[in-house]
Order: sequence, then C-alpha cells, then structure tokens
Amino acid sequence: MIIEHESMVTDAVLRAMANTRDPRLKQIMDGFVRHSHAFLREVRPSEEEFERGLRFIAALGHHTHETNNEVVLAADVLGISTLVTLLNKPLSQVESAAALLGPFYRANAPECALGDTIARSETPGSPLLVSGQVRDGDGTPLAGAVVDVWQASPIGLYENQDPHQENMNLRGKFRTDADGHFHFRSVRPAGYPVPTGGPIGELLVAQQRHPYRPAHMHFVVSAEGHETLITQVFADDSDVLQSDVVFGVTAPLVGTYRRHDRIDGFVPEGVEAPYYTLDYDFVLRKGVPTFPIPPIP
Ligand code: BEZ
Ligand code: FE
Repeated sequence: MIIEHESMVTDAVLRAMANTRDPRLKQIMDGFVRHSHAFLREVRPSEEEFERGLRFIAALGHHTHETNNEVVLAADVLGISTLVTLLNKPLSQVESAAALLGPFYRANAPECALGDTIARSETPGSPLLVSGQVRDGDGTPLAGAVVDVWQASPIGLYENQDPHQENMNLRGKFRTDADGHFHFRSVRPAGYPVPTGGPIGELLVAQQRHPYRPAHMHFVVSAEGHETLITQVFADDSDVLQSDVVFGVTAPLVGTYRRHDRIDGFVPEGVEAPYYTLDYDFVLRKGVPTFPIPPIP
C-alpha cells in the first residue's frame, strides 16, 4: 500500500501482519499496533520526544545485567506487572491473592528442613518466626507443598545486592508436613527502595514519586495438581503500605507481623525478645503447576 495520509498507516501495518501464522501472536501484535498508534495520535510526540523515548527503552536494556533487570522494573513501576498478575489471577474470596514476582527471584534456593532459619549470614535484626498452612480451595491441607521464600534483609537489601551477605542468604525452600503446615525462622525484612541508578530512577524523580516498597516477604507456593501461587505478604505496620511504588499491595496480602516483647509460648533456642511472628496460610487453586523464569540467575 502506498501511504497517502497519516490515517492510512495503521491499516497498512495491520495488513502487512495479516498472514501471521500463530493466531495468538497475531492477536497480540494487532492489538499492540492499534493501541500504540492510538496512543501516538493522542499524545502527538515531537520527533525529539520520540527519539528520547527510544533512547529510554534502549537504556532499559543497557541497565539490565546479572543483578538488575531494568525491563522488569519498568513494567513494575508502571503497574503493568500488577495488572497482568490480577488479570490472570483475579482476586478471589477463596484462593490466596497473587502478587508480582519482582526482579529478585532466583531459582535453586537451598532446600531447608521445617524450623530452619533462612538467615545464613550474620544478619542483625529482629527475629521473625513464620508459620502457616497450605490448603486447597476445599480446605484440604496440602502435604508436601513447596514454599519457596525470599526477602530483603533488615537494611532492605537482597543478598545479590549486598556483598556482606552470603550467597542465598534469606532464601529457602520448605516442604509442608502431613497437615500442610510449614514454619521457619528469619529476621524481619525492611522496606526498601527499588533500584534507582538507571532510567527508572530518573523517571521516578521526574514524576515526584518515592521509590519505596513496604516491608514484605516473597513466596512461590507450589503443589502437585495445583496452580503455582506467586505472592508477597506485607508488613501491616509499614509506612508506605498505601503507596507501594510497584502497586503490589492488595488487602488480603497485608499480614500481621506480631511483635512479642517477652517470650510468649514456645520459641526456638536462641530467639530472644523482642521478636515477631507472622502466621499466614496459602490457599491454592486446582490446576497445573508452572514455574516462573527467574529474572536474575
Ligand atoms: C521486589 O519486591 O523484590 C521488587 C519488586 C518490584 C521492583 C523491585 C523489587
Ligand atoms: Fe521484594
């Protein structure tokens, strides 16, 4: 098609892509072209703004390496990751709420025994005792479910961001017992800023947004015959709960991080007051387990 006017461009592109073999790829690319062209017609970028936008996208790639994934971060701070999560896993009254994976998930976290601590380095901070049960939607406990957990340290850094922490510190995989229960030890995570050294940091400054996430723990919970749950459990006393920079907080994911000022019931040896407990159950939907691709090695 010979283009005679701006209004012909969208149709010309859609026609050029009309023979795409894979129908889903065709649907995705048609939608992308129609909506991105509509966006351009709405905001009418100047040529300088267009070049700046292209440089911004290239910079996302340049700032993506072993310990940082700026492309994932861009999707996160624009609410894209949360929207995709909630479109695929709508909030339900029965199954646990899902939340974005984030850029710091690593595969192959150490397999731990119930009761172990995931604090493998000297990680000063308040002790945290985490417990819960994994069930299916009918309330049946799921024995042998895998609870894969990772979190930031009490100063708000993941082990892969912090040379003072051992490899795989504050990461671990636990298997539920015959009653679907799990428990482990850790230290209370702190809230933290998302990485701000790249183009996303600049964007947040330009938008007058803070870069903080509320304190949270990440979980990937999986069991045979069930969809894998990717989620996070947030600290109820976090001061940025209402303004998570990546929009991950939904009401059911606010956990009660209970403070104990004296030893209260059974606590493992070495745990001194004040300490915290978090009791949080996970309910999985029947289906086929799938596993996320780790954004970093
Ligand atoms: C995280 O929770 O690990 C995270 C999520 C989105 C952006 C940065 C970090
Ligand atoms: Fe996190």
